[in-house]
Amino acid sequence: MLGEQKICFSGVQPSGNLTIGNYLGAIRNFATFSEAYKCFYCVVDQHAITVRQTPADLRRRTYETLALYMACGLDPEKNTLYVQSHVPAHAELSWILNCYTMFGELSRMTQFKDKSSKHADNVNAGLFTYPVLMASDILLYQTDVVPVGIDQKQHVELCRNIAERFNQVFPDTFTVPEPIIPQNGKKIMSLADPTKKMSKSDENQNAIVYILDDRDTIIRKFRRAVTDSDTAVRFAEGKDGINNLMTIYSCFTGKNMDEIEREFAGKGYGDFKLAVGEVTADALAPVQARYKELLADKAGLEAQMKRGAEEAAYYARKTLSKVQKKLGFVQIR
Ligand code: TRP
Repeated sequence: MLGEQKICFSGVQPSGNLTIGNYLGAIRNFATFSEAYKCFYCVVDQHAITVRQTPADLRRRTYETLALYMACGLDPEKNTLYVQSHVPAHAELSWILNCYTMFGELSRMTQFKDKSSKHADNVNAGLFTYPVLMASDILLYQTDVVPVGIDQKQHVELCRNIAERFNQVFPDTFTVPEPIIPQNGKKIMSLADPTKKMSKSDENQNAIVYILDDRDTIIRKFRRAVTDSDTAVRFAEGKDGINNLMTIYSCFTGKNMDEIEREFAGKGYGDFKLAVGEVTADALAPVQARYKELLADKAGLEAQMKRGAEEAAYYARKTLSKVQKKLGFVQIR
C-alpha cells in the first residue's frame, strides 16, 4: 500500500519479440489495473541476461518493449513505466533476499528445470536465482497484486514465501503480494504443437503469432495451425488445437465458447481459422500503428525511461533503506 492506494507491479523481459500470448496473458490486462491501483510496469533487462543475449538486440528490444507497453494502452502519466537496470535497488535487494531464499526452493522451480535443460551449456547462477530478482522487483514497491501469466504463478508464490520468511524475522517489512492470473486466455498454446505454451523462443516461426506480425502473416500462420481430424468447431477434451484457437478468438471478440460453437456450427475448420486470423489482425492493427509512431521517437522513449526510473527509484529506495536498517547495515546518508 502507498497511503490509500494499492500497488500493482509486473514485468516483461525484453528478450525475443512479444507474442499474442504475452499480449493476451499479460500486457493487455495491465491497462485495466491503472484505474484502481498505482501501477509499476518494468522492462526487466536484468532478467533477460540469464540466457545469452546479443547486446545490440537487447538494447533495441528494451526500447521496443517500452514502446509496446505504451502502444498496448499503458499511459505513462498513469503508470510508472521504466527499465529495471536503471533502478539499482532491484539488484541490491536481490542480494539480500538471496540470503533469505533456500537452495531447495529454487531447485523446485519448474521454469529453472525447463530452462536449464534447454540451455544445458549455460546453467549459470543467475538462471537459478532468477526468481529472487523477481521477488525483489515485486517486494521493493510493497506490491499488493502481480498480474502475470499462469507460468509465472510459481515464482509469485515463492516471492510470498520469501516475504513471509523475512517478515517473520523483521515484522512489517514487506507487503505479501497476490498473483492475478487473467481469467480468459490464461495460456495461449503453440500453433504447431498445441500441447506446448506459445513461446517467443520457439524455433518454429509458424508456432508463434507476434504482436507485430503483419496481417497476411497472421492469417497465414492461423491457416497452418495444427488441429485434429474432427471437423466441428467444439471446445472439448483432446481438441487442443481447436481449443487454443477458440480461446484466442474468445479473447479478441469477448464471445464465450458456446457463442463461438453456435457461430461456426456447420462451418469447417478453414472458415474458423480465417476468422481467428482476421479478428487477431483487426485487434492488433491499432497497437501496431501506435507502436511505430512511438518507436520513431527514440528521444521521447529515453525521456520516458528517465522519468519512469526516477519515479520508481523514489519508492524502491524507501523499501531498501528500511530493509538495510532492519538488517543492521550502517546508514551513512
Ligand atoms: N519472470 C517474468 C516473465 O518471464 C518477468 C518478470 C520479472 C516479472 N519480474 C517480474 C513479472 C515481476 C511480474 C513481476 O514473464
